[in-house]
Amino acid sequence: MAQLIDGRSISDKIKNNVKIEVENLKKSGIGVCLAVVLVGNDPASKIYVKNKRIACEKVGIVSKEIVLDEKISESELLSVISNLNTDSKINGILVQLPLPKHLNETKVINSIDPLKDVDAFCPVNVGKIMIGKCDFLPCTPAGVLDLIDSTGVSVCGKNCVVIGRSNIVGKPMAMLLLNRSGTVTVCHSRTKDLKSFTQNADILISAVGISKFVKADMVKPGAIVIDVGINRGENGQICGDVDFEGVKEVAGYITPVPGGVGPMTIAKLMENALKAAKIQFES
Ligand code: GUN
Repeated sequence: MAQLIDGRSISDKIKNNVKIEVENLKKSGIGVCLAVVLVGNDPASKIYVKNKRIACEKVGIVSKEIVLDEKISESELLSVISNLNTDSKINGILVQLPLPKHLNETKVINSIDPLKDVDAFCPVNVGKIMIGKCDFLPCTPAGVLDLIDSTGVSVCGKNCVVIGRSNIVGKPMAMLLLNRSGTVTVCHSRTKDLKSFTQNADILISAVGISKFVKADMVKPGAIVIDVGINRGENGQICGDVDFEGVKEVAGYITPVPGGVGPMTIAKLMENALKAAKIQFES
């Protein structure tokens, strides 16, 4: 029976540390401010943005929410970001994705000042991750690393399998594991005989977005299983990519959904906003 990795308690510890550092900075007259840009009315995005605001309030970071009309033109949005880039009171900028279809997501993300890019999505920061010299670690993959570290198991030399190749999770996740000297395989929708890879994984990370996709017979006994998925089950309930009830009987460690990776992403965002303020203060 797997040990549960409690993302809520680990993320609370991270947020408490951020809170202490934010308070100390305040004593030196430095505030930390995160701008969150939300375009349109996507219900899931609204919930994510609300959770980010609540986390900011908890750790003492000022959250500046900028809600823009769904029909905003690309040039107007770029102008909003340009103003945030030059505003010295703003330390971090996050544009909530996905954006409405008429907006070029890559162009918008690329317009964020790399020193304020707390998501680590822009090409400069993605490049820095590739060479292991990043200012900001991307929030979800960085949170996953902390969850793995909490088990006391070292990534070095382990077979790590990441299912999913998105720019937000799969690709940076693979790079962070490689930077830790894991032997990394990235599987995806075109992978043939997925099970033959996952069954050899000491560390298995799923980010596919399909409910109960990872079954017990795909998992190596004793493996660390990290579930990045946030999906809706048949009855509308939140569930992960992993068939938790089955897999927990085989794995050594497992994250629940909710209460696993989700809270970690927000905690790591708080860390990045704090780091952005420190970098800007020092430069
Ligand atoms: N949409 C889903 N996940 C994320 C994230 O981590 N950052 C941003 N900006 N948008 C998202």
